[in-house]
Amino acid sequence: MKKKKAGEELALRIDGKAVAAKIKAQVAGEAAILAEKGIAPGLAVVIVGSDPASRIYVNNKKKACQEVGIYSEEYALPEGTTQEELLALVDRLNHEPKISGILVQSPLPKGLNESALVEAIDPKKDVDAFHPYNVGKLMQGRQIFLPCTPAGVIELLKSANVEIAGKSCVVIGRSDIVGKPMAMLLMQNNGTVTICHSRTQNLAEICRGADILVSAVGKAGFVTGDMIKPGAAVIDVGMNRDESGKLCGDVVFEEAEKVAGCITPVPGGVGPMTIAMLMQNTVTAAKLQNGIS
Ligand code: GUN
Repeated sequence: MKKKKAGEELALRIDGKAVAAKIKAQVAGEAAILAEKGIAPGLAVVIVGSDPASRIYVNNKKKACQEVGIYSEEYALPEGTTQEELLALVDRLNHEPKISGILVQSPLPKGLNESALVEAIDPKKDVDAFHPYNVGKLMQGRQIFLPCTPAGVIELLKSANVEIAGKSCVVIGRSDIVGKPMAMLLMQNNGTVTICHSRTQNLAEICRGADILVSAVGKAGFVTGDMIKPGAAVIDVGMNRDESGKLCGDVVFEEAEKVAGCITPVPGGVGPMTIAMLMQNTVTAAKLQNGIS
């Protein structure tokens, strides 16, 4: 990435929608080839309760399945569904040949044990890559399924020709879904990775040293322009609402685009990539279950 002073031209805006469309087209091609062999990838999406954000995510996942030619089933269950009922459903889906991938939409209503449910999913159908078996495989660099959001971030960096090898990568956030697997994938790509979190001292200074800065905090306005190294690649995984209820990321975009070399917007950055990678994993799962590598 070239050197750049604040106040020069604006950062390249990475178009997540366009990159996701390309990946979905590839996945659609793979699904069509499988169809010729009589194999139909299928995704089961389980949603419990009435969280509005989860409802939107699930609708988008179903729509993407239709677009790429993946069969999908939705299990929309009421708030009061018990752990036993959910475990019984997961067990049934584990044994259902039409279903290649199972996804339990997070967060679940209070009182349900999410990790026990994830552990009940057959690791070969765990298209979120949340099962401890798949987390362990990722840790060893021998994963079958790539974690969707972090894998999407890597694809976005590649699309913008951002070199990862040897670069200083800073991930803000240490969640199981984004921060930790993101660090693993950057490391697999030979990046030098620092993970920052709520207890990190000198956060701004560490961020300013990043050639690649990935923010997965969940707080609007968290990353300001002065935290960004001129010319850096800035990836915003945040999905927040501002004071007026508008969807926004963690990064103050108007400040950051004056300093960064390239940057992802919210919406239209990482979000569409997560779903594209989920489609890819579902096709991978169908292949795996049918002995195709
Ligand atoms: N909730 C927010 N992101 C995700 C995701 O990637 N997978 C699932 N299952 N739930 C989520």
